[in-house]
Amino acid sequence: MRGGGTAATGHLPASSRAAAVEAPGGGETPGGGEIPGGGETPGGTPPSDEIWRDGLLAGLDPRDLARTFGTPLHVYDLDALSARAARLRAALPDRVDVAYAVKSNPSLAVIATLASAGSGADVSSEGELEAALRAGMAPRAIVVTGPGKSDRLLRRAVESGVRAIAVDSPGEVPRVEVAAMAAGTRARVLVRLARHGQTFGMSWEDALAAARRAVASEHLEPVGVHAFAVSSVLDAQTLVRHVRQTVGAAVRLARAAGFPLALVDVGGGLGIPYRDGEAPLDLASFAAGIGNVLAGLASGPDLRETRILVEPGRYLSGPSGAYLARVVDVKRLHGRHVAVLDGGINHLLAPALVGRRHRLRLVGSALLQDRPLEGRPLVPVTITGPLCTSLDVVGRLAAFPEPRPADLIAVLDTGAYGFTQSMPWFLSHAGPAEVAIAGGRAELVRERLDPAEVVAAQGIPRFAV
Ligand SMILES: Cc1ncc(COP(=O)(O)O)c(C=O)c1O
Repeated sequence: MRGGGTAATGHLPASSRAAAVEAPGGGETPGGGEIPGGGETPGGTPPSDEIWRDGLLAGLDPRDLARTFGTPLHVYDLDALSARAARLRAALPDRVDVAYAVKSNPSLAVIATLASAGSGADVSSEGELEAALRAGMAPRAIVVTGPGKSDRLLRRAVESGVRAIAVDSPGEVPRVEVAAMAAGTRARVLVRLARHGQTFGMSWEDALAAARRAVASEHLEPVGVHAFAVSSVLDAQTLVRHVRQTVGAAVRLARAAGFPLALVDVGGGLGIPYRDGEAPLDLASFAAGIGNVLAGLASGPDLRETRILVEPGRYLSGPSGAYLARVVDVKRLHGRHVAVLDGGINHLLAPALVGRRHRLRLVGSALLQDRPLEGRPLVPVTITGPLCTSLDVVGRLAAFPEPRPADLIAVLDTGAYGFTQSMPWFLSHAGPAEVAIAGGRAELVRERLDPAEVVAAQGIPRFAV
């Protein structure tokens, strides 16, 4: 088993019968579309670092996954994940380190895979720190960032000897100091600078004061600066500009406060295409831009050892994951087909939270497996989840193969901010299970949340009855 899974293993045969459909746009997807034979994505074979290939999820038939593990499911392709991490590592200059942003997907299987691939971790809570440590991340590869850190998190971080803690406010500095004093050690800290009206980090004046206080402390060792202001960026030059500005500000701050700048943490923000045909981030150009920034540091004798840390979440975990749900009902309403799935924004909130339109793929049901999907007419379809809110729309497509009850729908690029950024409690449906696939083997790595257990975990106060 890879990662921390606990339950049944399913060995799933690879046989293919799934149809690709065109991606939904921001609203309704315009136009019709060929259903390419054999489930090929329009425009060519997808790169092997995405979970959906040739109508299969990580090489396995989605119907077999659904039969073995039930639905709804979040599925992760650990081989694709390793491939993405290796590609990023190989592209970046040696003086750039990678810390996977665990918030994008805290599955132990995902973190363990990335640890094996040489990534570090960026964690922002006690739970994320525990997950990273349990998944095998070396403490010296972990940075602790984010606002509102609890004392327990700070203590645990200091005691485990993490690479650095990014202090988010003037008040956090003495709290890290107390934790380090209690542990009889010196805590390495990054000073976080706020960017562009963010609530994260500190103003220049506060950051400078925090850095000076850290310089003066026996229990703190200021090692660098953290700043992060971008999200889902596909344009390499925009990312490079952010890196250049952050490094420039970090150099000024370190010199003004009087500490050697060992590390500049520039955060994540590397985007992924969510629509078919959208150009991916030009990794070579991003890497070359960072290389230029590093070359610029060579002019300062105090900066020749300075390293840059990137904290990608979405870029690593997003395309390696898919959400698989079953059509439980189909009806005609307002001239459209409405397909109701057994999971929706309770398991995948991005369509409601940020209006994301994921690529969707229809997979015929087990009963239909001998009937080609190509026979399905293309119709306007709204795909919803089972919640009693009109926000629960997973996709709205102008032309999609006519869905039928018991079909499966694969929602692509959900490996980041999918399971972890959802609202599983609303309407008390079953939660999604999580399945990891590597080398053609699938394994349950998180059991489905059973609504009966949620009920059993509650009490009724005696005074109320
Ligand atoms: C401090 C920090 N680092 C990294 C990330 C990861 O961002 P992304 O998934 O866009 O790469 C985030 C996202 O919120 C963040 O807050």
